[in-house]
This record gives sequence, structure tokens and C-alpha cells, in this order.
Amino acid sequence: MTADITTTYCGLELSNPLMASASPMTETIESLLALEEAGVGAVVLPSLWEEQIEHEAMEFQRIYSLSTDQFAESLSGFLPEYDDYGTRTEAYLEHLVEAKEELSIPVIASLNGTTRGGWVHYAKRLEAAGADALELNVYLIPTDPYATGADVEQRYLDLVEAVRKEVSIPLAVKIGPYFSSLPNMARQLQEAGADALVMFNRFFQPDIDLETLEVVPRVRLSPPTALLLPMRWIGILRGTVPLDFAITSGVHDASDALKALLVGADAVMMASALLRNGPGHVAEMLGEMQAWLDENDYESIEQMKGSMSIGSSPNPGAFVRTNYMKMLTTYSTAP
Ligand SMILES: Cc1cc2nc3c(=O)[nH]c(=O)nc-3n(C[C@H](O)[C@H](O)[C@H](O)COP(=O)(O)O)c2cc1C
Repeated sequence: MTADITTTYCGLELSNPLMASASPMTETIESLLALEEAGVGAVVLPSLWEEQIEHEAMEFQRIYSLSTDQFAESLSGFLPEYDDYGTRTEAYLEHLVEAKEELSIPVIASLNGTTRGGWVHYAKRLEAAGADALELNVYLIPTDPYATGADVEQRYLDLVEAVRKEVSIPLAVKIGPYFSSLPNMARQLQEAGADALVMFNRFFQPDIDLETLEVVPRVRLSPPTALLLPMRWIGILRGTVPLDFAITSGVHDASDALKALLVGADAVMMASALLRNGPGHVAEMLGEMQAWLDENDYESIEQMKGSMSIGSSPNPGAFVRTNYMKMLTTYSTAP
């Protein structure tokens, strides 16, 4: 019998759990079509940033107020509407509309920001442009020594609440791993309106250029070891909070994807592996995943999802501290 590989994630029915996460891979219609052709279950468009939306809105205000002061024509409706300026935000909407026209798989739009503000209204426009769901990436690095963990968490919650008010489509929240109590934060995010968590954001690290003595942000594609952190936490959260989970960070091949599903991911996102190997990698992975499911007598992905989460695992202690001392004797020198 051939296992059913469909899955549900964030209120969406997917033909399979493999998704292209936000990256340059989802930036053009050509690569989106190639990803669909290779069999990807859904795509997340690259993010639209708070700073872009705010900057363009301020720039428009500035031009508009200057012009209304100076030109009589402006009073007679001569000036173009904001929408007529060829802005990055408008280009984003056009890309979304085109992606929806060209693709038959779900298309998820992404907003990236940290503060509750006027920019969150943009979520409504993404919904109106046809986004099947919205992913909110809270890319927040706290630097204020007076801000407590609770203050930082409240910023996340305020933002999620504000975006939730704007849209009725499913809302996924992409977070990092740096919370003192991730289960508590996940519960609060769910109560604030999140339907799914995308775990984890990779916060790109700054580096130092010794030639120029400058701090330079570097984007390095993820190593396979990056998978272990989100795998542990999805394994712990699965079944404890009523949320869907997508894994992101370190999924490179079919076995990574299968492990992620076993601990409880509903969807498996990839950026680095697709940038390295191209969209065709998805087809290869799907073939290998299907073969593994069939060989291991799984009827469906739904049946295997979460079967090795902390609540269902034969060795739940491996997710936490039990056997910690024993585990330290099993180190390997492999990277
Ligand atoms: C070049 C590049 C651009 C990215 N752009 C975005 C983005 O616009 N929004 C976002 O939420 N994540 C972005 N990401 C993060 C990826 O979606 C993904 O979460 C991260 O790379 C970890 O997954 P991976 O190990 O499969 O690469 C980007 C990643 C890369 C490498």
C-alpha cells in the first residue's frame, strides 16, 4: 500500500509536508513554478520588512506634503496616488498576486518586524491580494539591559495580537529559540492568535572583517546540525499546545524531514538545501520519503506525525535531562 503523504498545516491542506521557506528561492515566478513542478506542498514568499513599509509610508508623506505646499496642480488631483509609486511594497503585492495566479499550491506571504505600529495594517492588503496564510517573522534581538524577558515577550504578543486583528486567514509566527520557557511562550502566542509556529528563525550573526575592521553581517547557509534544536523543541511542544508546527533550520534531506515529522512537525520547510541543490531536490526527497514510509508500513504521514514526540516517545527522557550524564560519554568527533 502506498502511504498517504498529505498533511494539514496552519489550516491548509498540503499535498505533502515539504515547503519552500522564505528565501531568494521564492522570489521569482520562475523559481516558484520550478518548486511547484518538483512537488513542493506550499511556498512562503520572502518577507516584507517593517522598515520597508514604514520608510515608504514616510517618504510618501514627505513628498506629498512638499508637493501640496508647492504645486497648485496637487489641489486638483494631479498627484498620483500612493499606489502609483513603484514601491517595494507594491512590487511585493504584485508578486503575490502573480504567484496566486500561476500556482495551484498554497502561497503564504511573510511580514517581518518587531514593533506594533501602522505597518501591521499591511497584513490586510496581503490577505486581500490572495495570500492563503500569513507568516509573521518576529526578528527581534533584545539589546536593552533594562528590558526584562517579560517585556520582550510582551512585544511579541502585542505584535501577534495586532496582526491577528487585521486578518482572518491563518497566521503562523516564526520565532527564535531564545525564551526562558518556550512552552509558556508558545501557549501565550496561541492565545494571542497564532495558529502555527515556525521554528526556528536563524538570527544571522555579525562577523568582523579584519581588513576593514568593520562589523559585517554574514548569511551562511545552515549546516545539517542546525536541525537538532528545532527538533527537540517541536518534540516537546507537540501535544502540549494546540498549535501546528513547521520546522525550519537544518533540513537537508529526506531523513531530516522524516525525523522532523516523527517529533511532530506538520510541515517541513527548507531554504539552504534548496539554494544549494535547486528545486529538483524536492522531487528526490519526496521519492525517498515515500519509499521509507512504505517500507515501514505507515499508512499516512498523519499517522506518523508526532509519534516520537515527548508524549509518545519510548524514551521521553532524551528530550530533557534524563540520561544527560550517560549521554556525555557518547560524544563523537564528527562535525
Ligand atoms: C538568503 C536567505 C534569505 C532569507 N530570507 C528570509 C526572509 O525574507 N524571511 C524569513 O522569514 N526568512 C528568511 N530566511 C530564513 C529561511 O526562511 C530559513 O528559515 C532559514 O534559512 C533556516 O532554514 P534552512 O536551514 O532550511 O536554511 C532567509 C534565509 C536565507 C539563507
